[in-house]
Amino acid sequence: MATPDPQAPAQTLKPVDYDRVQHGAYAKGRALPAEAIQRYMDLFAQRLPARRPLTFVDLGSGTGRFTPGLAEAFGGPVYGVEPAGAMRRAAETGAAHPRVSYLAGEAAAIPLPDASADAMLMFLSFHHFPDKPAAAREIARIIKPGGRVFLRSGFKGRIPDHWWRSYFPRSGEIEEAMFPSIAEACAVFEAAGFATAEIVPLVVPFEGDIAEAVARLRLRATSVFEHMTEAELDQGFARLDADLAAGTIEEKPTLGDFIVFERLAHDTEITPA
Ligand SMILES: C[S@@+](CC[C@H](N)C(=O)[O-])C[C@H]1O[C@@H](n2cnc3c(N)ncnc32)[C@H](O)[C@@H]1O
Repeated sequence: MATPDPQAPAQTLKPVDYDRVQHGAYAKGRALPAEAIQRYMDLFAQRLPARRPLTFVDLGSGTGRFTPGLAEAFGGPVYGVEPAGAMRRAAETGAAHPRVSYLAGEAAAIPLPDASADAMLMFLSFHHFPDKPAAAREIARIIKPGGRVFLRSGFKGRIPDHWWRSYFPRSGEIEEAMFPSIAEACAVFEAAGFATAEIVPLVVPFEGDIAEAVARLRLRATSVFEHMTEAELDQGFARLDADLAAGTIEEKPTLGDFIVFERLAHDTEITPA
């Protein structure tokens, strides 16, 4: 990992190259219990038509953490669109499903026909898109009128106090710079032909075993760590290990906020933001 300058303003964050480091550890480091995946599927199902199958796109699908779950819940086909070849290959081996295809592409160039998808998930990928307005226009192209887009993200002003936050004190400031605000995200999609259907603030309980959570975090499959120095990380993990041994790590809930956008009919007039 290159050493970032701790004095650099967080606004100058470099793009995270998922082909360089994250792909090796991502699936293990960010693994979620099956119940957590199912909870999101249930929340999405409550906000989608009851008919099945639904064609879904998982944009920025990474190692396919949610992609097979979408196929199970909604029938598919599901297209996992992912620009990083190494992440895509990890998905193809670790998250294969008969109704899932992983496609090379990126948010502003999605290899799918016009009005071909009923719904889309972007799970912690939107903040990586270099041209968000172009991405929203491309998403508007492939989503059917009335179709829905689930944007699960961190949001500036609602950065969660993760259980590990206090060990890496600069991480909160970095995440404030990394993520859009809810208003910024809504403005981008509304300018591209979507209505904001719902903003869903979600508190997610701490799940699982704290020692396993520390071991997963140690894999550094969290992009905020790419913007921190080795010294900051070493210090944080040393303090974490000491508190783990002492049994004093606080198992805090986190946030799972998402926004639901609905594709307007193609002849709906868009009022500039
Ligand atoms: C934090 S990972 C999330 C992966 C997956 N959605 C998950 O929750 O496990 C972010 C993903 O967004 C992808 N990404 C980065 N830039 C992108 C872009 N312009 N278009 C689509 N995906 C992008 C990255 O390659 C990476 O796989």
